[in-house]
Amino acid sequence: MSDQSNLKPLEPTPNVEHIKEFKAGDLNDLCDATDEAIEGGGGFGWVKLPSREKLERYWNGVLAMPARELFVARLDGVICGTCQLLKPPANNEAQSFSIQLTTNFVAPWARGHGLAKMLIQEAEKFALSEGFSVINLDVRETLREAMALYEHLGYRRIGEHPAYALVDNKVLKGYYYCKVIDPKIEKNTSKEISLATDS
Ligand SMILES: CC(C)(COP(=O)(O)OP(=O)(O)OC[C@H]1O[C@@H](n2cnc3c(N)ncnc32)[C@H](O)[C@@H]1OP(=O)(O)O)[C@@H](O)C(=O)NCCC(=O)NCCS
Repeated sequence: MSDQSNLKPLEPTPNVEHIKEFKAGDLNDLCDATDEAIEGGGGFGWVKLPSREKLERYWNGVLAMPARELFVARLDGVICGTCQLLKPPANNEAQSFSIQLTTNFVAPWARGHGLAKMLIQEAEKFALSEGFSVINLDVRETLREAMALYEHLGYRRIGEHPAYALVDNKVLKGYYYCKVIDPKIEKNTSKEISLATDS
């Protein structure tokens, strides 16, 4: 008989993916993860649980919108978190170099595996490859883990909104962050952001 006393449980495999369509089971897993994030108090704007139908419509809408790019986190293949990039509208030429990072969460059961960090880094890689130079994001004051994570990844706090969100009849502050991801302009941002040319 073999001795199994030295066998350790297998570590779950984390990975992230930029997706354009859902595979079988994905939409259900994503809705489950969203429910859990909302119940945990970090539901990217949702305060009360929406119906499953509403949530499915929302996520199908995200994939259908050309202005949105969806990144998902998986643990052993099961979707457990996301972030999105939201491109600026075509008329906003002055801000065409910046993109918004939003909807970033990992379901409580999948936290601590580096997935949020991997999601943000994947989104940054995509943004740079698409020619964007700056990533903006905002977060409500109660999401302290998220703020620690963003600051750890080089996001600078640039502003504060005194009445950013209303949660359970309580007005919450919000914080604005940015990260310059393009090294060509990064060096200019301590003085002012101006587009450096190669010449
Ligand atoms: C914030 C959140 C996304 C982190 O997800 P996660 O997958 O557990 O984070 P990671 O495992 O990728 O951790 C990345 C880094 O952040 C640090 N970190 C994560 N959670 C932390 C915490 N609670 N306190 C301090 N640091 C933390 C980790 O130590 C890690 O640092 P390292 O790279 O030096 O090891 C997750 O807690 C969450 O979904 N919270 C609720 C929703 C939310 O706040 N969303 C943001 C809306 S803007």
